[in-house]
Amino acid sequence: MPANTHSVTPANNNGLVDAFGRTINYLRVSVTDRCDFRCVYCMAENMSFLPKSEVLTLEELDRLCTAFIEKGVHKLRLTGGEPLVRKNIMGFIRGMSRHLESGALRELAITTNGSQLHRFAEELYDCGVRRINVSLDTLDADKFKHITRWGDLNKVMRGIEAAQKAGLKIKINAVAVKGFNDGEIADLLRWCHSHEYGLTLIETMPMGEIDGDRADQYLPLSQVRQTLSEQFTLEDLSERTGGPARYMLVKETGGKLGFITPMSHNFCEDCNRVRLTCTGQLYMCLGQEGKVDLRAALRNSEGPFALDTAIATAIANKPKGHDFVIDREQTQISVGRHMSMTGG
Ligand code: 5AD
Ligand code: SF4
Repeated sequence: MPANTHSVTPANNNGLVDAFGRTINYLRVSVTDRCDFRCVYCMAENMSFLPKSEVLTLEELDRLCTAFIEKGVHKLRLTGGEPLVRKNIMGFIRGMSRHLESGALRELAITTNGSQLHRFAEELYDCGVRRINVSLDTLDADKFKHITRWGDLNKVMRGIEAAQKAGLKIKINAVAVKGFNDGEIADLLRWCHSHEYGLTLIETMPMGEIDGDRADQYLPLSQVRQTLSEQFTLEDLSERTGGPARYMLVKETGGKLGFITPMSHNFCEDCNRVRLTCTGQLYMCLGQEGKVDLRAALRNSEGPFALDTAIATAIANKPKGHDFVIDREQTQISVGRHMSMTGG
């Protein structure tokens, strides 16, 4: 990727405000739809991925992210698929670090499955990344292989250790899957907190075709909370991040536990984020199909105004909220796209 020198000063405008008065200051970017795992709740085993020509180049991704930062986005999270399997992704991240240096961007974070962390942890820190989320649903190597189909727990563990050694703050994201890790969550919590990793539990969401039945996987976190309460004192924290997570303090460990419950909890009133796919589609809501094609605007030869207009239109049309449903009678999934398009 050619070195990009276009930097911006901290936003001196009113930023991106939607029709409901919510300020959008957080952009999540899926930099690739590809992944080296095939988690059972996320993908079918023989997923077909997008042809390269449809995917934004790293240079286009830089231009898009920079446009959002110019308009007031101050937090950027890179997701996938698995962001660290994209070729030369570190070149892109290095490019984004100029916005941290200028102060326009306050945080550059990444959500990863950890498979490549042993290679990139130090460089990530060097680029200004300070916090990473690592997806990890079990501490049992055989179960890990089962849930990710292709993953190697040892490699992920080495990556997590390298990340901690490099100085990155780590949060573990675990999807709660009925009959799979329900009996293990207390152990996972103790392990995380004893290593000073945060833990966030996620309810499965009905996104994209998978091989199994989602109703078989759905484990309501209200149930998990009840079980954990038998062993731990959970104290609700008022902290909000503008997303679906709610946090509590675990008295016994002194660590933080997050619950992401998009199915059973409404978090839309204070939503501060939009999601960009690797093909340049901007989704205004995790739980809805509405999107705006920023790639078309970006590749439009009429100059930067097309992109400005497209972003303004998207924000103006951000929906008020969503309504996910998983039930046995339901024959259709709520949202057709896979999580790997928008990375949660
Ligand atoms: N429901 C809930 N979580 C999911 N993830 C991927 N697909 C789903 C789904 N359908 C999780 C990953 C990762 C995070 C980005 O989203 O495990 O932790
Ligand atoms: Fe890959 Fe994450 Fe999906 Fe698992 S959940 S297949 S690691 S994108």
